[in-house]
Amino acid sequence: MEVLGALILAAGKGTRMHSPRPKVLQRLLEAPMLHYVYAAAAPLTGERTWTMIGHGADEVRGAFPEQAGRMILQAEQLGTGHALMTALPHLQAAGLSRLLVINGDTPLLRHSQLTTFVQACGDADLGFLTLTPPDPAAFGLVVRQGGRPTAVVEAKDYDPAKHGPHTGEINAGIYCLRLERVAPLLRKLTNKNKSGEYYITDIIGLAAEAGLWVEAVNFGDEADLLGINSPLELAAGEERLRARLVEEALRAGVLIHNPAAVRLGPRAVLEPGAEITGPCEIYGASRLAKGARVDSHCRLENVTLEAEARVFSFCHLEDARVGPDCRVGPYARLRPGAVLEEKARAGNFVEVKKARLCAGAKVNHLTYVGDAEVGAGANVGAGTITCNYDGKNKHFTRIGAGAFIGSNTALVAPVSVGAGAMVGAGSVITKDVPEGQIAIARGRQVNLERKKSS
Ligand code: UD1
Ligand code: CA
Repeated sequence: MEVLGALILAAGKGTRMHSPRPKVLQRLLEAPMLHYVYAAAAPLTGERTWTMIGHGADEVRGAFPEQAGRMILQAEQLGTGHALMTALPHLQAAGLSRLLVINGDTPLLRHSQLTTFVQACGDADLGFLTLTPPDPAAFGLVVRQGGRPTAVVEAKDYDPAKHGPHTGEINAGIYCLRLERVAPLLRKLTNKNKSGEYYITDIIGLAAEAGLWVEAVNFGDEADLLGINSPLELAAGEERLRARLVEEALRAGVLIHNPAAVRLGPRAVLEPGAEITGPCEIYGASRLAKGARVDSHCRLENVTLEAEARVFSFCHLEDARVGPDCRVGPYARLRPGAVLEEKARAGNFVEVKKARLCAGAKVNHLTYVGDAEVGAGANVGAGTITCNYDGKNKHFTRIGAGAFIGSNTALVAPVSVGAGAMVGAGSVITKDVPEGQIAIARGRQVNLERKKSS
């Protein structure tokens, strides 16, 4: 029985990116490059997906803890061929018969393309995907004789006198190997080339020489399969991906105004009938229910918006839940742990952190609510601050259902205001306010005769 697995090459440094971050962790729409490669491989190889790591190995493991058990360390990155040699014993031990090798810097690759490629490889011993891009200058160039692929030569090593005039066909960095047939060739790889690296691409020439069945599967000028090596290519790839995800959402029935200025992360789920207006960014594991609406100039990350929730312009929401029929903003900030229950409101210049606004609670203007619960139907006046931090620890503030907090109140936590209680404007509340009582904690007003200036 055939057992197909995948090896993703992700150990390289990505020198051309000029960034301290490993290249495969560069972000497109706030998700690391590798996320997309895993998503493309998953439907074909699922748990049988291994990753070569090396440069920034700990960071890569940390970014994908669920994959870390199948990450293989290539301590020295001596080239893509060396990566395959290092992985081989692990792959053989796993009982794979056929292996897809995928360069980790091709995040626009789709799983349907991988499926087409594997099918096109048929029973070949070694298949590889080729492209005919407008500018083949920086890639591995395919050499054919009598129409059959006989080698891939990196552009810098290519010598027309030796290899013949070039056709413009390049290697995309995606391979399908019958391990049993190809493994014996790996011993023959050398690093005798301009880079001094072991190239995976040399197995094509070695296989052809050994009389193995080699297939080059051409995908034309499909730009989605070009590797990303530089900031310019990253930006271009990200833009293509953005347009793709927005179009998918539109086709699924999401209402998007100004779609050219909308950015949706790959894990965001927008139900048909959700509505957004660009410019706007929705990232992470966000979910917008049917009827939820986000106006322009908002950024959401890991945010759930239930039905008919509305986020007005210029809001910043992160790790927050907004219940049905809530109103947020304009100019509101929901920080991690903010939960708004049904019909709650967090209005302009309101910041909510690790706090729950229970059903129908209103916090409408210029307020900080942190480490707190605001009871159902309570009203928190403009300029209220929960003073949650004493310089060392964070403390909790509880505001009971139906309570009314007057404007410009400081609630010095830990403190609670009972259900139905009221706090006078300008108070500094340091002691609990019992249910149903009124607390006023401010200097009494004194009116004195004003001296007349002579
Ligand atoms: C590679 C191919 C080239 C092809 C191009 C397509 C080789 C020698 N060349 O070139 O033919 O046209 O991709 O985009 O393979 N990596 C490791 N370990 C290493 C070195 C690299 O895991 O020791 C990983 C990198 O992280 C990267 C991938 O392999 O994800 C490809 O490496 P990269 O340096 O980008 O290869 P290219 O020069 O683009
Ligand atoms: Ca590359």
